[in-house]
Amino acid sequence: MTLRGLFFSSLLIAAGPILATAPSPLSREQVKKQSQSFEQWISQQEKVSLEKMFENISPLGAARGSVIASPSLYDPPYVYHWIRDAALVMSTVETLFENSSGGQRSQLKNRMLEYLRFSRQNQLTKTLTGLGEPKFHPDGASFELEWCRPQNDGPALRAMVLTRFAHQLLQEGETNLVTGELYDSRWPTQSVIKTDLEYVANHWRDTNCDIWEESIGDHLYNRLVQWRALTDGAALARHLNDAGAAAWYDEQANELRQEFVKYWDAGKQAFVATLHMTGGVNYKKSNLDSQVILGFLHSQALPLRDDRIQATLTTLTETFRGLYPINNSGFPGVGIGRYPEDLYDGGKNTGGNPWFLITAAFAHTHYQIASELLEQGKLASARDHAKAGDAFLKRIQTHAWVDGSLSEQFDRSSGHMKSARDLTWSYSEFIQAAWARKNLKQRLKF
Ligand code: NOJ
Ligand code: NOJ
Repeated sequence: MTLRGLFFSSLLIAAGPILATAPSPLSREQVKKQSQSFEQWISQQEKVSLEKMFENISPLGAARGSVIASPSLYDPPYVYHWIRDAALVMSTVETLFENSSGGQRSQLKNRMLEYLRFSRQNQLTKTLTGLGEPKFHPDGASFELEWCRPQNDGPALRAMVLTRFAHQLLQEGETNLVTGELYDSRWPTQSVIKTDLEYVANHWRDTNCDIWEESIGDHLYNRLVQWRALTDGAALARHLNDAGAAAWYDEQANELRQEFVKYWDAGKQAFVATLHMTGGVNYKKSNLDSQVILGFLHSQALPLRDDRIQATLTTLTETFRGLYPINNSGFPGVGIGRYPEDLYDGGKNTGGNPWFLITAAFAHTHYQIASELLEQGKLASARDHAKAGDAFLKRIQTHAWVDGSLSEQFDRSSGHMKSARDLTWSYSEFIQAAWARKNLKQRLKF
């Protein structure tokens, strides 16, 4: 065979998998990436995700402590510090901090302090909706164009992560720092956590905008994280001898808890997202929405093995399996989007797509269910959930870029990455899923 012939036949071999499954929506690089073992890919993707996540925390030109949602400047413009994205990302950083030592620990502590101080600046900045303001410019200036606001999950998520930080600092003997900047019991609005808790305790009943920034009403996601913020906040308050406030936060948390069951819809076999919708997009008819799974995962308000949560997972998974062509192209796992009627694609709203962060959160949820079932001695069902979790991560493996980049979405038909590139929240949610899997692997073979 001539050299030229050899070259072409090796090309054909390399292209084998593409031809075999033609028409394939995958590029050659993606097919090549698939031949890497799944285990190798996960650990590589975790490493890259950590690096890329940190690139978006206090990036050059932004204030220290700010977290940009993505470096994307347009289609969509995401160089903003969203309160929600930042708090969820910093909770991954907080976990790293909790498990670190030595020089790494002091670096991570510094990251948390910078986030704490930038958050305080956000609280003190005059905005259109006060503490429910969803996002800021990366230099801390308020964002004053039209937006769906207020978004009342933000102060709750911020209080949650900073409460964890406060407990770590107390363990280190940093009591003055905690009572000075994080939780000052004497003044309701003098410190970050107490300011947020007061806001949540007084405003959780207010109608507000959902986490997808599109619907106005009462949202289960917000209720769940508000409950968690008040519950953990009450424990911190009690610890710092602020008994009156602790009782008040607990009382509000108990009332919030009564709300959860109202979102269960037996006919749909799912927790629905929103009650009493008063505005926003008018095409959100099914009320089925992945944000409820994110809510249970982020709040840990119920064990995730709860039958209703499991039913919701199944209902949503089957809905998205049928909806996106990419889910029926012969590759493992289901790509999960925000909600079935979604149109947002980061640009012209031509139709919704699966999201990396949501698909990762579904994997994570299955790993946690597996771990809960394992503790009950239910080995076989634990293994089933572990494998279900892997299928979601394999779906991410299929669509991630070769260098490990993760955007916000991947196209429902072509599978190519779409919308904001290097979405900080995508990396954070992937890392947490990978950690949950690692943890499970130590106790269960799958
Ligand atoms: C931008 C928001 O961030 C997104 O969630 C929403 O879907 C679009 N605007 C369209 O309203
Ligand atoms: C749009 C998403 O819907 C919203 O949840 C997120 O906060 C922003 N993008 C920024 O990532």
